[in-house]
Amino acid sequence: STQKPWAGRFNEPTDVFVEAFTASVGFDRRLYRQDIQGSQAHARMLARQGILSDSECDAIVAGLERIKTRIEQNKFSWSVPLEDVHMNIEAALTAEIGDAGKRLHTGRSRNDQVATDIRLWLREEVDEISRAIRRLQQVLVDLAEREAATILPGFTHLQAAQPVTFGHHMMAWYEMLERDVERLRDARRRINLMPLGAAALAGTTYPIDRDYSARLLGFDRPAANSLDAVSDRDFAIEFSAAAAILSMHLSRFSEELIIWSSAQFGFITLSDAFCTGSSIMPQKKNPDVPELLRGKSARVFGHLIALLTLMKAQPLAYNKDNQEDKEPLFDIVDTLRGGLKVFADMMGALSCNHARMRTAALQGFTTATDLADYLVRKGVAFRDAHEIVGRAVALGVERGRDLADLSLEELRGFSAAIDEDVFDILTLEGSVAARDHFGGTAPNQVRAAVARAREALAAD
Ligand code: ARG
Repeated sequence: STQKPWAGRFNEPTDVFVEAFTASVGFDRRLYRQDIQGSQAHARMLARQGILSDSECDAIVAGLERIKTRIEQNKFSWSVPLEDVHMNIEAALTAEIGDAGKRLHTGRSRNDQVATDIRLWLREEVDEISRAIRRLQQVLVDLAEREAATILPGFTHLQAAQPVTFGHHMMAWYEMLERDVERLRDARRRINLMPLGAAALAGTTYPIDRDYSARLLGFDRPAANSLDAVSDRDFAIEFSAAAAILSMHLSRFSEELIIWSSAQFGFITLSDAFCTGSSIMPQKKNPDVPELLRGKSARVFGHLIALLTLMKAQPLAYNKDNQEDKEPLFDIVDTLRGGLKVFADMMGALSCNHARMRTAALQGFTTATDLADYLVRKGVAFRDAHEIVGRAVALGVERGRDLADLSLEELRGFSAAIDEDVFDILTLEGSVAARDHFGGTAPNQVRAAVARAREALAAD
């Protein structure tokens, strides 16, 4: 069987099932690029400090490049007995360049190595995810501009509440995504610290220069405590928490699209390209994509809980438990990257059914608050106005007519303060246009929000 790098103190071979059970190479080989990058930086630092010769360092750096190429060409054979990506690459390096390969692990442990690899990997993924969020925001801003004056009912309790503009609604999602980007960027500051040099747990006896390796790898600085450096997975949990909140947003947004695209609402039409049919019901067009996006939030939430649980009882410093941190992280990243892409594509192909939205906004007395505000402007106290309009709504319900369809006489029956001009404020356009302040739903304000967003996206 394969000679293990740590075999020295063992008398018996590893149980074959245990070998497979403890191995992580099946999934952590995904980190090969970061593992090589980290090893090359470590070798350069060792050479600069006189711990390795320059020729040894050159052989290591070049040998690792060749191994990287082999991996990328699918010509590398991964070995389960060699456990993980780290020992696989190190063994291949020694096979490739001979003795110099055996010097690479000087002053290093797989404990600081793996923590470094994950941080390098996650840093890149956070940037990719942030870019994907930006792309979705861009689509929403375009949609908001196109539909700045489109009116639909806004809801509370899923009951028609007040008219709002579709553009305003899209910009609400833009704001949520903006906070998601901020959270990811904040998490990135704590991801971008370098464990390398912590070695197994206590640091190392060689005269290493951690600032130099950190600089080579683009880390902000080396982690300040060796015990913490090898055992900290807060950065992974923070990322997962930000990812869970982002997934919650995508799920909520999806829920709305599912409701809006139902025949009963009919506010929007999702492009056929993002829906599927039924194997039995010929008429069906199902919103599979938003449904799946809603469903996928569940796995991201689950991974966050898995990582918290993974860490909650680990004494310092490294424990093998930590090998379980990778699959949840990988799955979160894959889920989000796929989800954000399909979401942006789907929103770019969405169409609004203006007439359906308008009809719905005209039902349910959505301008009742406007009538109360009107009475206040005529000198009525708001509480009295609320009562008066409530009685007018009750009459409308009884007669099956909306407020704007009641006659002036009928309305005046509730308050002599009501005049002919009331009908202007009872229109949908009047209602949204009147909410013309920073953060309000007026088409003007939507255009202003769109302009601010475009500027922010361009500056980013
Ligand atoms: N495969 C291991 C992990 O993912 C690498 C570190 C192993 N360290 C050790 N002392 N066994 O965490």
